[in-house]
Amino acid sequence: MNVYDAIMERRTIRKFLQKKVSEKDLLKLIDCGRVAAYGANIQPLKFAVIDNEETVKKLYPLTKWAGYLTDGAPKEDERPLSYIAVLGDTSIRQNGMFECEAGAAVTTMMLEAVEMGLATCWLGALQREEIKKLLGLDEKLNVVYLLAVGYPNQKSKMVDMKNGDVKYYEDENGVINVPKRSMEEVLIKL
Ligand SMILES: Cc1cc2nc3c(=O)[nH]c(=O)nc-3n(C[C@H](O)[C@H](O)[C@H](O)COP(=O)(O)O)c2cc1C
Repeated sequence: MNVYDAIMERRTIRKFLQKKVSEKDLLKLIDCGRVAAYGANIQPLKFAVIDNEETVKKLYPLTKWAGYLTDGAPKEDERPLSYIAVLGDTSIRQNGMFECEAGAAVTTMMLEAVEMGLATCWLGALQREEIKKLLGLDEKLNVVYLLAVGYPNQKSKMVDMKNGDVKYYEDENGVINVPKRSMEEVLIKL
C-alpha cells in the first residue's frame, strides 16, 4: 500500500472485533510513533501498551466515544482489546505542552495501522488523572492521548461536507459517514 492510499483510506473506527492484536504489532506501531517528526528533535514522549484484560476493562469508562452519535460508542463486545498510551515526559519537557508532538506520533501510528489492516481511534476526551492512577504511571508522565487499536467491526467512509455540517453520522447501512471539507473550500489561492 502506498502512503497516499493509507491517508485516504484511514478512518476512525470505534467498533472492534474481539480478536487481540499481537504485542509484536503494537510494538511496531510504537516504533513508528517513536521516529515521527518532533520540534527541535526533543522527543518528549513515551508510549505504553495497554492490553491486559482487567486494565482494558477499567480503562473504558475513563474514555468517551463518538460525541456526535447517539449509539456510536462500542458495546461491551465491540470494545477495543488494546490501546497505546501516548505519554508526555515532564522530565524532558517541563512546560507540559505535548499535544503537537503527540499528534505527529499518533498520526504516524494510525497510517502504519492502515497498512497492517488494523483499525484505530484517537482518543482525546479522557479522564487523564484517573488513567494515570489506573496505569500506575510515574509522576513525571502525563497522559496526552490514547490510541485504541484493533481489528475493524465497522465501516466508515468520507463524504463531501454539506452546508458546513461537520458532524459524522451513521447511514442506513450502518456505515459511518465522515464529512470532509472540499479542496475548493480549504485551498486559499494567492
Ligand atoms: C485530538 C483528537 C481527539 C479525538 N478524541 C476522540 C475521542 O475522545 N473520542 C472519539 O470517539 N473520537 C475522537 N477523535 C476522533 C475524531 O472524532 C475523528 O478523527 C473525526 O471525527 C474525523 O474522522 P476520521 O478520523 O475518520 O477522519 C479524536 C480525534 C482527534 C484528532
